[in-house]
Amino acid sequence: MSDIPVLTIDGPSGSGKGTIAQMIARDLGWHYLDSGAIYRVLAQAALKHNIELDDEIALTDLAQTLDVSFTVAGGELKVMLEGQDVSLLIRSETAGNAASRVAALPPVRAALLQRQRDFRTMPGLVTDGRDMGTVVFPDAPFKVFLTASAEERAQRRYKQLKQKGIESNLSDLIAEISERDRRDSERKVAPLRPAEGALILDSTELGIDAVYKQVSAFCADR
Ligand code: DC
Repeated sequence: MSDIPVLTIDGPSGSGKGTIAQMIARDLGWHYLDSGAIYRVLAQAALKHNIELDDEIALTDLAQTLDVSFTVAGGELKVMLEGQDVSLLIRSETAGNAASRVAALPPVRAALLQRQRDFRTMPGLVTDGRDMGTVVFPDAPFKVFLTASAEERAQRRYKQLKQKGIESNLSDLIAEISERDRRDSERKVAPLRPAEGALILDSTELGIDAVYKQVSAFCADR
């Protein structure tokens, strides 16, 4: 048990958990961990070093020595891999899918566990991912599970990618998101599911401000 407070926000791809987590971290002045970015960077590093996405041994080695750093600059998360800025590169759907594949390997997840827990420093941590409340920070005092329909999430992703100048196709996005949901939910280790006691929010019909208010009120009440 740690005295350092953690708010975990888990949920499927495109549920808005990253946006909400960053808003709340900024409000509270707490640290922020985007755990999905770690898996995305690992997949990117594998590509760079010609490692196959199912080569468990090489990927686990890579996870143990991964040279990655996260900084927040001007409200944006900057991700460096081996000294190279990969912030934009890791946001494509291809990168998300590759991340989901490496994340399904149990020894890879084990190798990344402590690295994630190290983000828990004073005054507190807001973190988003798939297993933040269930596996990485099971003693977190605040847990949220944020979801939305696959169609709605694909629409949001489409707009987000467009804003970043990345072209995509909506029906491909729906198919990719559904496939990723399936892989992330059905894997043997740390599958996507709400933690016990988590506030479960479906944001299909809710704007970001409404979700933000509910999550803030939930934390303030505890
Ligand atoms: O949240 P995201 O879309 O950036 O995550 C990319 C992939 O990484 C996701 O499809 C599954 C994996 N992931 C995971 O297995 N566990 C986490 N805590 C976060 C992400």
